[in-house]
Amino acid sequence: MSIPQKSRQYILPAGRKEGYKNLTITEVEVPKLKANDVLVKVHAASLQYRDLSIANEFYGPGLNGREIVPGSDMSGEVIAVGQDVTDWKAGDRVCANFSPAHLSGDPTPATMDAALGAVALGVLTEYRSFPSESLVRIPAHFSYQQASTLPCAALTAYNALNGRGNPIKAGDTVLILGTGGVSIWALQFAVTSGATVIATSSSDEKLKIAEKLGAKHLINYRNTPDWEEEVLKITNGVGVDHVVEVGGQGTMYKSIKSVRFGGGVYVIGVLTHGDLPPDIFRLILDRAAEVRGILIGSVSQFKDMLRLIEANPEKTTPVIDKVFAFEDGVAAFAHLESQKHVGKVVIQVSKD
Ligand SMILES: NC(=O)c1ccc[n+]([C@@H]2O[C@H](COP(=O)([O-])OP(=O)(O)OC[C@H]3O[C@@H](n4cnc5c(N)ncnc54)[C@H](OP(=O)(O)O)[C@@H]3O)[C@@H](O)[C@H]2O)c1
Repeated sequence: MSIPQKSRQYILPAGRKEGYKNLTITEVEVPKLKANDVLVKVHAASLQYRDLSIANEFYGPGLNGREIVPGSDMSGEVIAVGQDVTDWKAGDRVCANFSPAHLSGDPTPATMDAALGAVALGVLTEYRSFPSESLVRIPAHFSYQQASTLPCAALTAYNALNGRGNPIKAGDTVLILGTGGVSIWALQFAVTSGATVIATSSSDEKLKIAEKLGAKHLINYRNTPDWEEEVLKITNGVGVDHVVEVGGQGTMYKSIKSVRFGGGVYVIGVLTHGDLPPDIFRLILDRAAEVRGILIGSVSQFKDMLRLIEANPEKTTPVIDKVFAFEDGVAAFAHLESQKHVGKVVIQVSKD
């Protein structure tokens, strides 16, 4: 394929007054390739809750008011490579890591600054170049749409359950909160790893989907506001081994109450707000709970995660709620905002 000159790309304009509703398609020059860069035709992008937060300016003041090319998660096809690139060739199917600079080890301020779709250019664009080492090969059995769900949601869930001292083991019990992108991937990795999953959701319909994916115990947190007591009942008063904590202030106290002595609570998201009772610190201490903040993951962890997926294709099919055409970006963001989805919301950026 010849190298295109122009790329259609979304921008969130500076000074936007209506958040994602101000998303605009522009046309830009395709950048000249640097020696270590790979030019990728973006086929699909999946949306993150973070994309919504950035667009609506509640992610962080550092990003408010500036023009942003949104989107962190993509899959696509290599079109051309820079003169020093030896790992990739035209036609290869790839995803870029959420932070192209986070290759291995712990995140740093520099790796977070490089995260796509914030200060750095995002992926809601037809053609984008990436440093060669930031790319991973997508599983052969995945479509581009499926692969686009991997970089943030899947890798965050994988990192939570496998990243450090207390990795998931067969026979463990995992609590997931809600049925969004991160939680559904956590459910799938937990089931794949031989763990028992307790799933919570605002909706019985969504819980049925979680059950089909292998969740053994289901709790509607609207009907059962003291869901932590239900979790303790299910686990005979012991608590779970792992909590994939996406809720934030409104759920953290209950998550700590749900974990067993020495178990892990992985702090991932802030979907809810409120005051935390001061005795939460005592509770963490008394349970010797391991509370760990997660910042997505590295290229090295991405490759480990792909091994798990490729070895367990039947249990790790990405759950895609709805696919939108590139031109329907505003509708895609609106669907994410409605929180009616289970799993991932995807935008088809270019034709496959
Ligand atoms: N730290 C990281 O590396 C990282 C990476 C990815 C995402 N995140 C963060 O993690 C959070 C989730 O992201 P996502 O992309 O999975 O979001 P998402 O796809 O929009 O899913 C959010 C889901 O959370 C559930 N939820 C909302 N309020 C809840 C509550 N009070 N209790 C339990 N569940 C609740 C809802 O599911 P139900 O309708 O089923 O209840 C909702 O659909 C966001 O805050 C995001 O910014 C952080």
